[in-house]
Amino acid sequence: MKALQLIFRYIKYLFRAKSKHDAQAPFLYELITEVINKRTSDNSCEKIETLRKELCKQERTINITDFGAGSTINNSKTRKVKDVAKNSAKNAKFGKLLYRIIQFYKPKNILELGTSLGISTSYLAKADANAQVFTFEGCHETGAIAQENFDKQRIKNTSITLGDFNLTLTEKLKEIKTIDLAFIDGNHKEKPTIAYFKKCLEYANNDTIFVFDDIHWSDGMQNAWNYIKAHPSTTLTIDLFFVGIVFVKSELSKENFTIRF
Ligand SMILES: C[S@@+](CC[C@H](N)C(=O)[O-])C[C@H]1O[C@@H](n2cnc3c(N)ncnc32)[C@H](O)[C@@H]1O
Repeated sequence: MKALQLIFRYIKYLFRAKSKHDAQAPFLYELITEVINKRTSDNSCEKIETLRKELCKQERTINITDFGAGSTINNSKTRKVKDVAKNSAKNAKFGKLLYRIIQFYKPKNILELGTSLGISTSYLAKADANAQVFTFEGCHETGAIAQENFDKQRIKNTSITLGDFNLTLTEKLKEIKTIDLAFIDGNHKEKPTIAYFKKCLEYANNDTIFVFDDIHWSDGMQNAWNYIKAHPSTTLTIDLFFVGIVFVKSELSKENFTIRF
């Protein structure tokens, strides 16, 4: 039922989607042509994909603590690394989109909620060695493998904060002080997603970019996306179906744009 609903939503998205020819504002036109529609093939990205392939074969098991499912310590279950790599990580197409966003807009302080094995984090970190990536993960065993993956790739500009976002985010934000890009990819539920958006907004600046994962995944996530689009701080939003991009630049007019990706 849920899969059918998602297919139906995807078809609606395809009908709604516009192209660069519909973009009037120069900022939006540039975003579509220079970032969204560009293709990336560089060595750093290929190395991340080699790592993904290795992880997709790993039989090693880990105890998963899933805060996203709503429970805490008792929700531990054993999973193979290869299953986590196949089911949790954003695919190469979206990893490369994050990579291009960073190379184009050059955010310096990057926050990621939901490290998992560190695949999307690797894209965030490798896009700009001068940026600092602050990534958050609730499951200690998964986070430990992510750290191994950063070490393997000699990624130095990333730090992981372990623990439930509800307990770690507020304190860490006080330390970070300002966020230039936030990728929200954990705890895909309505209320937490809105709460993370509002909390991160307190540390946003005029150039901050938000990227939300799975905005159409459930009714709750669609409600959260609608809330974010309607928020007074939000100006331009881009719906790419599997992710939504949000700008808060005050000089942009409020516009919600859907683009086929
Ligand atoms: C979809 S995965 C992240 C995938 C990763 N961004 C990638 O593309 O490679 C979401 C992660 O968020 C973590 N998570 C979900 N809810 C959380 C919470 N409330 N606190 C801490 N971590 C949480 C889960 O443990 C999981 O590893």
